[in-house]
Amino acid sequence: MGNRSAWEAASGKYVQEHHELLDQARYSSSLTAVELEVLRPLLADAPAVVHLQSGHGLDDLALVAEGARSVVGVDFSSVTVTAAQRRADELGVNCRYVIAELPGAPLRDGCADLVYTGKGALIWLPDLGSWAEDVARLLRPGGHLFVLEAHPLVPLWTWDEDEPRIRPDRGYFERSHVNDTFPAGGAVEYQTTLAGIITAVLGAGLELRHVAEHAEPFYRWGDLDAAAWRGRLPNTFTLLARKPR
Ligand SMILES: C[S@@+](CC[C@H](N)C(=O)[O-])C[C@H]1O[C@@H](n2cnc3c(N)ncnc32)[C@H](O)[C@@H]1O
Repeated sequence: MGNRSAWEAASGKYVQEHHELLDQARYSSSLTAVELEVLRPLLADAPAVVHLQSGHGLDDLALVAEGARSVVGVDFSSVTVTAAQRRADELGVNCRYVIAELPGAPLRDGCADLVYTGKGALIWLPDLGSWAEDVARLLRPGGHLFVLEAHPLVPLWTWDEDEPRIRPDRGYFERSHVNDTFPAGGAVEYQTTLAGIITAVLGAGLELRHVAEHAEPFYRWGDLDAAAWRGRLPNTFTLLARKPR
């Protein structure tokens, strides 16, 4: 099964969990503290946001609640897009969803004040150079790219609960690996080093404004309490870049 059909199948979860996700959106925010720290000053200007690989769309509802004027989500899963549109419509939130394979968003040049992405997005893209070019095209001059993503070292850590270990079968400089953990077991994930991600962003002509590495993962799965998540190792990074005026 290709990654697109795998995502169509995996996204059925968001249809089944429609009411839980609606309640989550009503009573909590999916944006993390590290995201809000960087995004709040930008959200104060009521940006038009484009969310690449928008998935379940909870972040879009939270971005509007924090000040975004509108969000356009782009994702290649018709199941996830339909579910996210239904939730936004039921909540009366200004989000619109488009089904498209990325990079190559079918949106006009310069339409975004802010391109938002991450939380398990970049690992599905083999060529971040083309992705960054697409981001730069979507941004208006002076607009920003924001990413909160798993740290590229994460595939190397085991999720043992007693102590963190380095997997003998993975390499930081490999181009891909097969995911063997929840929720993407069996899927091919692409690897780009942190330097590779930053080089792609700079190569598209964007100016780096912020990059930081964090110990906290962007998501914790069920009751799992991996030792790798207890503060000694990097699990996520945030990046903010600006298109020159
Ligand atoms: C782990 S989800 C993360 C999305 C979102 N940030 C969230 O938290 O729900 C990854 C999403 O990327 C989408 N995706 C993967 N590869 C894609 C591609 N090449 N073009 C468009 N969407 C893609 C999948 O359908 C899925 O919804």
